Amino acid sequence: MPTRRTFLGTTLAAAASATQWTAAASTNENPMQPIILSTWRHGLPANEAAWPVLADGGSALDAVEAGARQSESDPDNATVGLGGRPDRDGNVTLDACIMGPDGNCGSVACLTEIENPISVARLVMEQTPHVMLVGQGALEFAIERGFPRRDLLTPNSRAEWEKWQAEHPDAVGQRQINVENHDTIGLVALDAAGDLAGACTTSGLAWKLPGRVGDSPIIGAGMYADNEVGAAAATGVGEAVIRAVGSFLVVELMRQGHGPTDACRLACERVVAKNPDWRELQVGFIALSKSGEVGGYALQPGFQYAVRSAAGEELVDAASIAN
Ligand code: GLY
Repeated sequence: MPTRRTFLGTTLAAAASATQWTAAASTNENPMQPIILSTWRHGLPANEAAWPVLADGGSALDAVEAGARQSESDPDNATVGLGGRPDRDGNVTLDACIMGPDGNCGSVACLTEIENPISVARLVMEQTPHVMLVGQGALEFAIERGFPRRDLLTPNSRAEWEKWQAEHPDAVGQRQINVENHDTIGLVALDAAGDLAGACTTSGLAWKLPGRVGDSPIIGAGMYADNEVGAAAATGVGEAVIRAVGSFLVVELMRQGHGPTDACRLACERVVAKNPDWRELQVGFIALSKSGEVGGYALQPGFQYAVRSAAGEELVDAASIAN
């Protein structure tokens, strides 16, 4: 299925081809053209929050954090951060990870009461010898670092959860996520210095079993960045992504010479091979190569990703395995 691209805002320069951007060589004398891409339509405002960082010559790492924070702080986004749908028991638990060009990475899982888990993940990366903190330990770490506690249930998400609970009194967790309704945000960026970074953040599956953690905070599953090759991020049913170690796979396929779209397609085929029920679930990947090419692919139609560069902003309808 051909990729359909929706052009938004300023008109993209004709030089931005329909399928790829090509950046200049990675040297200080010949700087790269910065670019960021993010999963889903809510990637558009996230990219807009990140773009000033890249446009001002800032780092890809700062850019993906800024973009992720925008999504996390949007109370109307029901799948990320504040206002994210809670677990079976009404607790909002957040997962996030971040990875920089030096290969360092940080992650938090099952974090409660903190609006911006991506920034906690960054401090895990920068201020601890660890990669991942979970649950109460992650919360205590965040509080020690000055993050304010707040109730992440909004009136809307509370009402939605109460309705679901009333309709499913005996539920033992649910894969509410299906072919069309999951919206984890993953972001990958290339900065003017030619460095790559990635981030991923989510409230996970709605009405999940307490303690459930998906792919988003798992380095290599929800996101992976290798500064020699490229970066990738995943969205969709986390269990299916974990089984394929999806984002790492996309980057390794790029290392073998596949372009970003082809690498994402092949990773989707791996997800299909590992998940017999693949027709009932959605998984999507986005990828960015070291040279600035972008791509995405999904199991099911409907997956979109947002791209922002100096040429403007764009929302791309990704091709998919199923029609
Ligand atoms: N991809 C997000 C999750 O499954 O939690």
